[in-house]
Amino acid sequence: MNLFATAQLPPGVVLQRGVARDPAIIAALETVIAAAPLRTMITPRGPMSVRMTNCGSLGWVSDASGYRYAPADPATKLPWPPIPDALATLARRCAEDAGFPEFYPDACLINQYTPGAQMGLHQDRDERDFAQPIVSVSLGLPARFTIGGETRKHATFDIELEHGDVVVFGGPARRMYHGVKRIAPGHHPLLGARRLNVTFRRAG
Ligand code: SIN
Ligand code: FE2
Repeated sequence: MNLFATAQLPPGVVLQRGVARDPAIIAALETVIAAAPLRTMITPRGPMSVRMTNCGSLGWVSDASGYRYAPADPATKLPWPPIPDALATLARRCAEDAGFPEFYPDACLINQYTPGAQMGLHQDRDERDFAQPIVSVSLGLPARFTIGGETRKHATFDIELEHGDVVVFGGPARRMYHGVKRIAPGHHPLLGARRLNVTFRRAG
């Protein structure tokens, strides 16, 4: 395991430090969470340690039978809230700065980590078009983000992500395995004992 400097990131991974610090981003997320509350999703392997919700025309949902993208919130049967303009603009600008000029996400996943929560190594591979990148925004408590390669066996390295950091992974990095180590206890001035990760995808 190595901690790489930005210049040494693998092809297709673009790290944009501190570009998502505008408090309007958190305010926009709170409106989504008020309309579609965070919940524990169950996967075939058990409950997730993050609590999550979605906005956009498609949302990522999971139950004991598996996961998929769905147009409605299974808790309310209502469409997911739209992606707030402040978030869509941020995602499009970050994608453009990373070399993906026409990024119009239709799915935005919001994951809330509290200390002890983590996300195991996985690929994001339920989206239709792998030419579209993933834009991942980190807010609140810091996290150690692990990136590998296209197989589980590939060597991994870690990036420390802090409040306002954005990672864009596209092109050769689009199918890399990635995950998040257990979040350490802490307190963030804006989010308290929480980390929010927001990923924008073109799913449909
Ligand atoms: C994810 O892979 O969906 C989440 C990544 C993160 O929390 O940084
Ligand atoms: Fe992911």
